[in-house]
Amino acid sequence: MYGDRGVGKTSLAKTTCKLLLHEILKGGLFVEKRCDSQDSFASIVQAALIEAKVDISTREKTLTHNEGGDAQLSVGIAKASLSSKSEHKTTANHLTNTNSPSWVAEKLKDCKGIFLIDEVDAIPSLEDKKKIAELIKLLSDFDSEFKLVVVGIATTGSELTAGHPSVERCLKEVQLKRMSDDGIKKIILNGMKQIDLIIGDEIADKIVDISAGFPHFTHLVCLKCAEIALVKKIRHINFEILKQALVESVKDSEGVLKHAYDSTIRLLSKPQDYKILLLAAAYCKIPEFRSSELKDKLVESYSINIDSQVISRRLASLVKIKNGSAIISRSARGCFRFIDPRMPSFIKMSSGVEDI
Ligand SMILES: Nc1ncnc2c1ncn2[C@@H]1O[C@H](COP(=O)(O)OP(=O)(O)OP(=O)(O)O)[C@@H](O)[C@H]1O
Ligand SMILES: [Mg+2]
Repeated sequence: MYGDRGVGKTSLAKTTCKLLLHEILKGGLFVEKRCDSQDSFASIVQAALIEAKVDISTREKTLTHNEGGDAQLSVGIAKASLSSKSEHKTTANHLTNTNSPSWVAEKLKDCKGIFLIDEVDAIPSLEDKKKIAELIKLLSDFDSEFKLVVVGIATTGSELTAGHPSVERCLKEVQLKRMSDDGIKKIILNGMKQIDLIIGDEIADKIVDISAGFPHFTHLVCLKCAEIALVKKIRHINFEILKQALVESVKDSEGVLKHAYDSTIRLLSKPQDYKILLLAAAYCKIPEFRSSELKDKLVESYSINIDSQVISRRLASLVKIKNGSAIISRSARGCFRFIDPRMPSFIKMSSGVEDI
């Protein structure tokens, strides 16, 4: 399963795995591994091997002999000759090879269950991603009831398996797109109802707009609204509460979004002009917008008529920002996109106070 950051991949994957385990496999192991930049194929499969009770300790067998004669001893991969009256030690490594997809597949093929490997995009080595693909293929060839669910941020499924060619037949790729506005609104209305708060359509729609299909922002803004309403002992979420909630949400937002936005604005000579430009861009089409669309949006929403050349110049300055904090990139001539797809939601939240 692949998709943009924060669209709900982990939540859907976990729910689906549990459903598959109960409804299709009728029981079995559920193993979950969240990868990080330090992980390799061996460290990832370790979780499943331990759950499957496979002995993966790299213990050494040591045999000591002090008998007479000139016998040959052969244990595992090591050999030693024995001569009389002297003591010899023979060591043999227990043959574990958690680095090899075929070894791992052999050990897991008779198990039943699901192995959820999440955050696969964080694995640094392409070779390790390919090995995961190989493991899927080998288990599939064994017709095993041990299934792998691989989840990560990507624009295509093959990014997660490093483009391994022969694995595609054994894969079912699912792209998780952003949530629909109706889905987001249901989160708001159901949640507020559960804690006995009332929210009007206008305010709920504003939160839907800010969320832009990312449930994380819905939860964040609603949580802040609810906290403020409960402290003030007010049951109706009004615009005043929403305004304060947006300020609190920005404070609690992920550091990477806040840092990228703040440092970009700080680097520019007319921050207020750029803030409005970015806000208008946040309301343009996704994933790409054209500078002409941005010009129209500025007129339509903020009655600001800026010369096309000035807009192009400002967009060029935003693209040029280095030191890793650029928030906009040029995808084609005259076409731009936010590097982090969640940035428009953050911008709407931080400008939302004046915007309402
Ligand atoms: N269908 C849903 N209904 C309500 N909330 C949801 C739904 N799906 C996801 N969420 C919430 O949205 C937030 C983000 O979801 P999740 O962590 O599953 O996304 P993700 O795509 O795995 O993110 P990342 O790319 O950062 O790993 C979580 O707080 C989660 O509880
Ligand atoms: Mg996730």
